[in-house]
Amino acid sequence: YRNLRVALLGGGSVGAQVARLLLEQKEELANRVGAGLELIGIAVRDINAERTVDLPRELFTTDAESLILGADVVVELMGGIEPARSYILMAINSGADVVTANKALLAAHGPELFEAADKVGAQLNYEAAVAGAIPIVRPLRDSLAGDTVKRILGIVNGTTNFILDRMDTEGDTLEEALATATALGYAEADPTADIGGYDAAQKAALLASLAFHTTVPLEDVYREGITEVTPQEIESARKAGYVIKLLAICERLTHPTTGVEGVSARVYPAFVHRSHPLAAVHGANNAVFVEAEAAGSLMFYGAGAGGVETASAVLGDLVSLARRHVLGGPGVAASSHADLPVFEIGNVSTRY
Ligand code: NAP
Ligand code: HSE
Repeated sequence: YRNLRVALLGGGSVGAQVARLLLEQKEELANRVGAGLELIGIAVRDINAERTVDLPRELFTTDAESLILGADVVVELMGGIEPARSYILMAINSGADVVTANKALLAAHGPELFEAADKVGAQLNYEAAVAGAIPIVRPLRDSLAGDTVKRILGIVNGTTNFILDRMDTEGDTLEEALATATALGYAEADPTADIGGYDAAQKAALLASLAFHTTVPLEDVYREGITEVTPQEIESARKAGYVIKLLAICERLTHPTTGVEGVSARVYPAFVHRSHPLAAVHGANNAVFVEAEAAGSLMFYGAGAGGVETASAVLGDLVSLARRHVLGGPGVAASSHADLPVFEIGNVSTRY
């Protein structure tokens, strides 16, 4: 099989880490896919900007369109609505598959993009768009596809969890904690998306749409952010044995007055008892609880933001698409040929 040409749109917090891992793990990934993943370029706004990750200068370009037209797979990590939307449509219509982490775009224009992809048989993967490194999109879309999801409850924004945690444990102000979250690469380019609850609402719309096999428009998601949460409220919550968390809740329910079956998605800061597992979600971590009819209760936990953590989810999507390109299915997934020895170590510790 020939190498697959991968175009990266965006070389910021996430994009730079995806590029680094693609280059550093080149041989290992080629083994897993059955063909090389050749990074053909990284589209950015400013090719001379200082970069925190050391990447070959010649990969950078401002000509996103030429890059897209020469690619088999386009990975969109620019963020925002335009030009990301037009670039993804261009990629799909030129025969490429697409990976994106752009929840703002999917929550606003998902149906248009998925329809465009379906029309030409292209794939559009977006595991990194919800809860960073945590696998939640594919479990809902694939693993739970035969079950009936009743409820999703979770913390789906790393920046606000980081801020609320810092306000609770370190006594930081919202502004101080936000500055740290931004420096660590957790926040959106415009952090109003995080603290205003917009990012969590976008993720709630995506989760509810996937879980309930319907389209939940962003404007139907109830949203409150954390800008009104005061240090005094955090202190009072602590004294009463609670912690304040920004929650996303998606449910199937029966309308209380009409009796009509429907769904609801909402995002707001809530008091969580300190004995609840969600109270133990610190820093930029996220946690998502899923209640399904047959499966029962499932819990997903891990890094909800961060460049390298999110890059893991992006690369997973990329490898999955690449395998399809090579073999028309999961292919070498079941038998990756790393040929590692298996050690017999036995029971060395009973404490973890
Ligand atoms: P970022 O650090 O702001 O990086 C954005 C990159 O896109 C930069 O390299 C920028 O170029 C480039 N870019 C922006 N507009 C462009 C344009 N019009 N033409 C060409 N290049 C353009 O963003 P990020 O944090 O990596 O996030 C990227 C995406 O991943 C967003 O959709 C975000 O919501 C999502 N996401 C982020 C995280 C996270 O923890 N950061 C986690 C999950 C999902 P310059 O470098 O020249 O400015
Ligand atoms: N800004 C987002 C967050 C990035 O803090 O959760 C991950 O989607």
